[in-house]
Amino acid sequence: MFAYQQDGRFFAQVARGLEELARTELEELGAQKVEISASGLHFCHDAAGLYRVNYCSRLVSRVLAPLAAFPCFSELALYDAARALPWEELLTPEKTFAVFAHVRESRITHSQFAALRLKDAIADHFRDHCGRRPDVDAASPDVWIHLSVRGNQAIVSLDTSNGSLHRRGYRKQSVPAPLQETLAAAMVRLSGWQGERPLVDPLCGSGTVLAEAFMHYCRIPAAFKRERFGFAALPDFDLRSWEEMRRGCDAPRRELPEGLIRGSDSDRQAVAACRENLREIPGTRGVAVERKDFRDLPGIAGATILCNPPYGVRVGEREGALALAREFGDFLKQRCSGSTAYVLCGSQEMVKAVGLKPARRFIMYNGPLECRLLKIEIY
Ligand SMILES: C[S@@+](CC[C@H](N)C(=O)[O-])C[C@H]1O[C@@H](n2cnc3c(N)ncnc32)[C@H](O)[C@@H]1O
Repeated sequence: MFAYQQDGRFFAQVARGLEELARTELEELGAQKVEISASGLHFCHDAAGLYRVNYCSRLVSRVLAPLAAFPCFSELALYDAARALPWEELLTPEKTFAVFAHVRESRITHSQFAALRLKDAIADHFRDHCGRRPDVDAASPDVWIHLSVRGNQAIVSLDTSNGSLHRRGYRKQSVPAPLQETLAAAMVRLSGWQGERPLVDPLCGSGTVLAEAFMHYCRIPAAFKRERFGFAALPDFDLRSWEEMRRGCDAPRRELPEGLIRGSDSDRQAVAACRENLREIPGTRGVAVERKDFRDLPGIAGATILCNPPYGVRVGEREGALALAREFGDFLKQRCSGSTAYVLCGSQEMVKAVGLKPARRFIMYNGPLECRLLKIEIY
């Protein structure tokens, strides 16, 4: 019996800074005993609940089902313990698999080496038991195995999401610095927007904020386009319960009133990417997208404004990004009265450049970059 079958406990990975938001979301999705820990949250749920979290969560990056935890003082201990696990309950020689490892404060110093040992253990287990082994497919495996080694303790898990959940499936085209879908969803959630007034992204890029706001408003599950989930490999996977749960989550959709969500961008390619991405989501015809420099907009009054101006992380781009942030701050102050803006800033300098006193600020990480989401009330 695998570890998750004994205690019904799973682990949700989230971007740093989103833990409290994700706790609330997991509880809304029926999770019990939600506890925040390093890089994510532990929670308990039944099988249908695990499917629901994977299908509906907008903030969680990945859900792991722990298979086994064991002491791991050396790579040999890792190999021996892993080889003894009942892998045939998850995999067959006809399927493909991949291993992702993360090692910290351990005698095994390289994550890639740990991943390789676990891969060998799985392959040798199959050779012992059936003379054939499943192949590795690092890009698109049927089964993702996750290994975490912290100090002298290893946890081997199945990735029940089958790759990061931020890959919703609607992003066909991109821009140089697209916002991650889970972060865009967090911005929508933090804004508290429920459709009571227009939502506008005047620097919409490839349209991630618009897409996430649309799915939130129309109650479309975040993973509605996803075809494969890792939980289907679990030995207790219940197809009927998954299909029933999916039908239930798909049912309460609603239409978007024309123009309630709109965006613009000065870049022709960004606007084309945004339109193409939105077309991937049924019902988005009512989302208005135009090519426009925000400096040429008449203003945005009485709206919720959500955006991430360019951070200018690369050398040579910083000054331009700060100058743009200054102009954007002026635009908000002078032409957006009655609106509430949520502006994601990639540095403290950028916060200063926007130059408006935030009513609140939230810290969230875009990969390794510490960002601040400013809530600005414009009177
Ligand atoms: C960091 S990107 C936004 C990414 C977007 N959230 C996404 O998910 O793809 C910033 C965007 O601001 C746009 N931009 C830069 N200067 C602008 C201006 N003056 N007016 C309108 N858009 C501008 C860029 O073209 C770029 O698409």
